[in-house]
Amino acid sequence: MTILYEWKPEYSTGVDAIDEDHKMIFSLINQFKHSVENGEHEFASSELLDKLIDYVNFHFAREENKMSERGLASLTDHQYLHEDLKFQVIAFRSMEEQEKAAIIGEIGSFLEDWLINHIIKVDVPTFRP
Ligand SMILES: [Fe+2]
Repeated sequence: MTILYEWKPEYSTGVDAIDEDHKMIFSLINQFKHSVENGEHEFASSELLDKLIDYVNFHFAREENKMSERGLASLTDHQYLHEDLKFQVIAFRSMEEQEKAAIIGEIGSFLEDWLINHIIKVDVPTFRP
């Protein structure tokens, strides 16, 4: 039974566009978990990871632009965290299919932990007025 991650109002950053992006990220993580649990490993570790990479590139740029507009000093550290996530996901994406299949559950857990913790512990305090 898939445990679905639901976006909650307490995760709101106060910036509508960023909240909408975060809901989409929750949805992509849920699709990933659902696909893995249904044995669609290749779909999860190729198409869904591609979608996630595209989406986080777009979304992280949006957050970084917003931080830059607000002149926030934490921008550089925040960018570093974003780069780290992108690097990890691209590394997973570029593994051989067999290798990915062997660690697919760990990839899912990594994505959940990283993204959900990042949203709650880093993005919310950064943007909430
Ligand atoms: Fe962020």
